[in-house]
Amino acid sequence: MPDILYFNGRFTTTDERVLGVEDRGFQFGDGVYEVFKFLGRRPAFLADHFRRMQRGLAELEIRSPWDEARFTSAMRELVERTAFDDGIVYLQVTRGEAERSHFWPDAIEPTVVAYSRAFQFPGPAKKERGIKVITTSDHRWHFCNVKSLNLLGNAMAKKQAQRAGADEAILLGEGFVREGASSSFFAVKNGGIVTHPLDERILPGVVRDRVIGLALGAKIRVDERPLREAELFDLDEAFITSTTQGVMPVSEIDGRVIGNSRRGEVTTTLQSRFDQLELREAGV
Ligand code: PDD
Repeated sequence: MPDILYFNGRFTTTDERVLGVEDRGFQFGDGVYEVFKFLGRRPAFLADHFRRMQRGLAELEIRSPWDEARFTSAMRELVERTAFDDGIVYLQVTRGEAERSHFWPDAIEPTVVAYSRAFQFPGPAKKERGIKVITTSDHRWHFCNVKSLNLLGNAMAKKQAQRAGADEAILLGEGFVREGASSSFFAVKNGGIVTHPLDERILPGVVRDRVIGLALGAKIRVDERPLREAELFDLDEAFITSTTQGVMPVSEIDGRVIGNSRRGEVTTTLQSRFDQLELREAGV
């Protein structure tokens, strides 16, 4: 069944081929994207995703196609038109379409594409069991704080993880742990959490930010500093966060069991607090 597609201000379905071959998103990966979740046909953390997208567009000097009110009403309408209750929306804004040349014309209209998709969110068993991860080198470009369409480094790392029988790849650079190929990474040591500080080496994850807020509210110590690679194998607990996975325990890193192989106390607390916050935020 086709999904609902929003394209440059109008609604259609994913059956319609809308993009031109000279769109710079296709030719150069020249654009940004967002993934947000909806529950009961109501988006969660939409304002957070909007703010991050606006920052990314500004960094790339792409004209924003909308203000927050127009963005919010378009995305709410997309979700309301969708035939199922829970899922995700992929949203991409590219610099636009122009005859292929690295130089872009000054007068270029951004392209907006967003579509809803059914998604199998992790159930209680997986949320308790957690995932296995591998570590690999971070080969991405220098502005990972921008959620750009260039995901080749991420996709290569993710495929490597899949071939190793793991679910996620944790990216390492200069001896430090950065983030997952499609998630933020958190370590738990002596009751506190450690995660990479916000800079150009990681994406400012929407869930990351909310989990830090929840941890502070629960009097859990938060240390935003780069974790050394060597520390990875002396952790009490570890978890990743992302829009699709929420707070997901990590049970093994490169085949080595973390903690006592069970979902830890800190992870459990933050997972359940985040699930509640997400429901509240979506208003379901
Ligand atoms: N990925 N880091 C990277 C590299 C990501 O791709 C993502 C999200 C995150 C977590 O961000 P957030 O909490 O805002 O979802 C961190 C999306 C979901 C994707 O798979 O495309």
